[in-house]
Amino acid sequence: MKLQDKNIVITGAANGIGLALAKRFLRESPNSISLIDINVSVNKIASELGVKGYVADVTSENQFQSIINQIIDGDGSIDLFCSNAGIQQFGTLETSTNNWQKNWDVNVMSHVHAAKVLIPHMQSRKTGYLLLTVSAAGLLNMPNALSYATTKHAAMGLAENLSIMYGNDGIIVSALCPQLVDTNMVRSAESLSDDHPLLKDGILPVEIVADETVKGINSEKFLILPHKEVAKYIQGKAFDYDAWIQAVRKLVP
Ligand SMILES: NC(=O)c1ccc[n+]([C@@H]2O[C@H](COP(=O)([O-])OP(=O)(O)OC[C@H]3O[C@@H](n4cnc5c(N)ncnc54)[C@H](O)[C@@H]3O)[C@@H](O)[C@H]2O)c1
Repeated sequence: MKLQDKNIVITGAANGIGLALAKRFLRESPNSISLIDINVSVNKIASELGVKGYVADVTSENQFQSIINQIIDGDGSIDLFCSNAGIQQFGTLETSTNNWQKNWDVNVMSHVHAAKVLIPHMQSRKTGYLLLTVSAAGLLNMPNALSYATTKHAAMGLAENLSIMYGNDGIIVSALCPQLVDTNMVRSAESLSDDHPLLKDGILPVEIVADETVKGINSEKFLILPHKEVAKYIQGKAFDYDAWIQAVRKLVP
């Protein structure tokens, strides 16, 4: 899909990858961009970029869906929806049930809330694009991030299922799966010391991730992998699951 003249929505857009996507998409001459974030700074950011901003919690089904409907009513359609908001949780079995629920609500259910409005909308138009920001952790797991990696696997399953179910209706689904990206999420991760094994493939700048995302959307690729190594790792996992588990065990800090 080309982004020129399209109506685009991005969640988690006040920071990091979401904000970088907004800036990059602007260069493609879209018709409109709407930014959604729980952080009120989204309004200021939106006005600086000359786009629309909405404060909403993507885990609040009613609030989130009513904003999506409001955008559809205002712009006439949503052509590309980037369901990008996410939270990261480090830790293993000490993760509280409450924090498991938070990870589930943001990293999985937010996509479901959006899809419930967007899939019928896109079906009625016989076109539309849903981009889920998942993570390489949803494909390759992530040591010491039990609830994050598990919910990102669920998000990956969701993206695959939506693509399988609605691809025949003209709806394109992509899963954006970077490894580490230079955002607050990574910067605030105290457990990522400078010599942490997860850093071995490097931390990508958000601008590269945004460029790769535009390329992936243009070519309508299901899997968008800004870190090219990830494709090789998935092949290794599929080729020999036991050897892959052993290799990832070596990354345990
Ligand atoms: N940074 C990385 O290394 C990395 C790697 C792979 C995948 N990801 C994924 O990329 C996405 C964006 O992450 P980022 O690195 O830009 O993080 P970030 O923390 O810089 O930005 C996330 C944004 O989401 C917003 N947000 C969080 N919870 C929300 C909620 N309930 N409702 C609305 N907005 C909410 C935050 O306010 C923030 O502006 C996430 O889904 C994350 O899991 C990040």
